[in-house]
Amino acid sequence: MGISGKSYVLGRREKGEGGAINIGRYYALDASLGADVFVDALKPHVILICGKRGYGKSYTMGVFIEEMLSLEEEIRKNIGIVVIDTLGIFWTLFYPNEKEKDLLERWKLMPKKFDLRILSSPANVEEYRKKGIEARELLIKTDELSPLHWAQLFNLKPTDYISAIIGRAISELNKDFSIDDILDFIKNDKRIKDEAKVIAENFLLMAKSWEIFDKNGLPINEIVKAGKATILDLSSYPEELKIVVVAIIARKIFEARIRERRKYEEAMIEKKKLKEEIPQTWLAIDEAHVFLPIESCLSKDILIKQWMRQGRQPGVSLILATQRPSSLDEEVLSHSDIIICHRLTAQEDIDALSKIRPTYMLESIEEAIKRVGTEKGVALIIDDTSETTHVIKVRPRLSWHGGEEPSALRA
Ligand SMILES: Nc1ncnc2c1ncn2[C@@H]1O[C@H](COP(=O)(O)OP(=O)(O)OP(=O)(O)O)[C@@H](O)[C@H]1O
Ligand SMILES: [Mg+2]
Repeated sequence: MGISGKSYVLGRREKGEGGAINIGRYYALDASLGADVFVDALKPHVILICGKRGYGKSYTMGVFIEEMLSLEEEIRKNIGIVVIDTLGIFWTLFYPNEKEKDLLERWKLMPKKFDLRILSSPANVEEYRKKGIEARELLIKTDELSPLHWAQLFNLKPTDYISAIIGRAISELNKDFSIDDILDFIKNDKRIKDEAKVIAENFLLMAKSWEIFDKNGLPINEIVKAGKATILDLSSYPEELKIVVVAIIARKIFEARIRERRKYEEAMIEKKKLKEEIPQTWLAIDEAHVFLPIESCLSKDILIKQWMRQGRQPGVSLILATQRPSSLDEEVLSHSDIIICHRLTAQEDIDALSKIRPTYMLESIEEAIKRVGTEKGVALIIDDTSETTHVIKVRPRLSWHGGEEPSALRA
């Protein structure tokens, strides 16, 4: 028993520790550590990790991924993890954390590597394969992009002439086309002025150079795999493309899970065995403010309207990390049932969290965050299910953490 006297599972109503992941230990004001802290991994959740730069958000997200991959087989086989890796830092899960061996020893833990699948650009795939990591090219089916997606990609208004040209081309091409097919269509379209053709072609050639759009694309069961973590390394893509990729993939996962849910009910009624196309999915998004900003944004529409508002029934969960909770759409904060807050000092970020301070918190968010102090990996947890708050120290990573700042002292 620890400082808190209890070691219940955060995010869970019922008793029982099966399917719970151990993310750290209770942390006391004198920096001593108490009982283990668990988080429920059986039910869908929206987990928000926030905190100022360099205090452990990505590290904590890595702990979640390690723990999900360490769940007992019976549970793990029903869960797929997809990581939206904007900075290309999560591949290091493939290596054991030898650099923090002493720290791990103090926690009675051992360095460990985890198997991964990575989807990324052809150049990155080559690099990953050289390291012995399973990697495959990330391919999005060209016909899955709506005129809105194309406009977002090129930073155009949907009402701009160029957007309209591309919109007409894709609507007439209808299905199973490539970027070359769009280029050909526009080239041969006599209704378009030459000047506009050149601009549209330039945009489309740029999109082609990203080597991500493809006539066929990857099927959804190549993006989410049961019992595995699939890292989508988007680090080499421009921000607009990252947003479009997340918008399309999040929608596809959600729709597949809705179909799955219907099949599940049918299988239960007809007492048949169910073969799932994709398992319940945990989508981990680092730098979440890119995809869930205050302003309108295609990825935000899907993540809030579908994943957050309706995610319980199809069984989809989010783990979000951000440096700037004040830059997130307010709905993200109110939908998060577990908030993990590392050190946070910017007043506007503290104010953003204060707006959603639940009534069961006796102190202000500002006072609660003060208890976190300056130690990396320490965090305040606000758990809406048990209506409690806790200060914890996140356990050390078993695998190598890749998000460290480079030091000018190091070679
Ligand atoms: N639980 C922890 N135990 C021990 N060290 C930790 C822990 N969490 C973080 N650290 C240390 O803090 C460093 C920074 O953590 P991390 O990369 O997660 O920061 P971040 O909050 O994601 O920052 P940024 O906003 O720049 O992405 C790590 O490299 C690690 O050395
Ligand atoms: Mg980070």
